[in-house]
Amino acid sequence: MKTSALKSDYGIEISDVDVTQASKTTLDEIVRLLNAHGAIVVRNQDLTPRQLVDFTKLFGKPANNPRKEFTVPGEPDVFLISNKVVDGKPIGDLDAGSGWHFDMPYERLPGFCTLLYAREVPAEGSDTLLADLCAAWDDLPEDRKEELRDLVVHHSYAQLSALKGTRLTAEHRKLLPDVFHPLIRKHPYNGRLALRPCAGGSKGILGVANPEGIDLLKELVAFVTQEKYIYAHKWRVGDLLVWDNNCTLHRGTPFDREKYIRLVLRTWIQSPEEHYAAA
Ligand SMILES: [Fe+2]
Repeated sequence: MKTSALKSDYGIEISDVDVTQASKTTLDEIVRLLNAHGAIVVRNQDLTPRQLVDFTKLFGKPANNPRKEFTVPGEPDVFLISNKVVDGKPIGDLDAGSGWHFDMPYERLPGFCTLLYAREVPAEGSDTLLADLCAAWDDLPEDRKEELRDLVVHHSYAQLSALKGTRLTAEHRKLLPDVFHPLIRKHPYNGRLALRPCAGGSKGILGVANPEGIDLLKELVAFVTQEKYIYAHKWRVGDLLVWDNNCTLHRGTPFDREKYIRLVLRTWIQSPEEHYAAA
């Protein structure tokens, strides 16, 4: 297995390994690299949906997606992002996140890591952008850190659904009530602090009237997504990209849907209880 940095100390590119054949020592090292560096790209993998789920389990327990219509038949933990149409029906979600966000902010236990595995990629466009939230926090002046340190963000699945124009079922309403998460996230393993604002689907900041609360979130998203904090992943077929939502915001970018096909499989891990109990 070979490794190299994606962007200074954020992210590691991994090559010359087949994750379905790798030893336990190698797989443990892959998990360590993600926990230490916030993101990994494992190149040139050839995986079935089941093998993707097996790899996902290295990082924790795969979580189901609240939207069942685009999961792989027989593999409810594998979600499809695609513009492919089979028998007149879209097989995947066209647009799984065009604005900056971390995954599952609307859950009491938000997303821990997210895995995207590319089977078909457009020749241009569709980069996935990752923002290094620990570097952004580290760069803030001390007085600004003090102002932000104890702020709590109000997240709402209902609001996110309205924003995306997706259907909100009675079950979603019952299972996903509004939740509140600290703006500053302490990493459960390495202890680093991350500035983690999420504006889409947020109702604001506790104790701060709107529009000031929402405006502050938008300002902070703009701050953490400056070019100097971004790694832009340019996809190749067989790429397996994993990022840690504790210290990363991400977003997709457009491509020409008339000209190209994109087919990406996604799995994700919800944060275990202990990650939030320890915060
Ligand atoms: Fe996402």
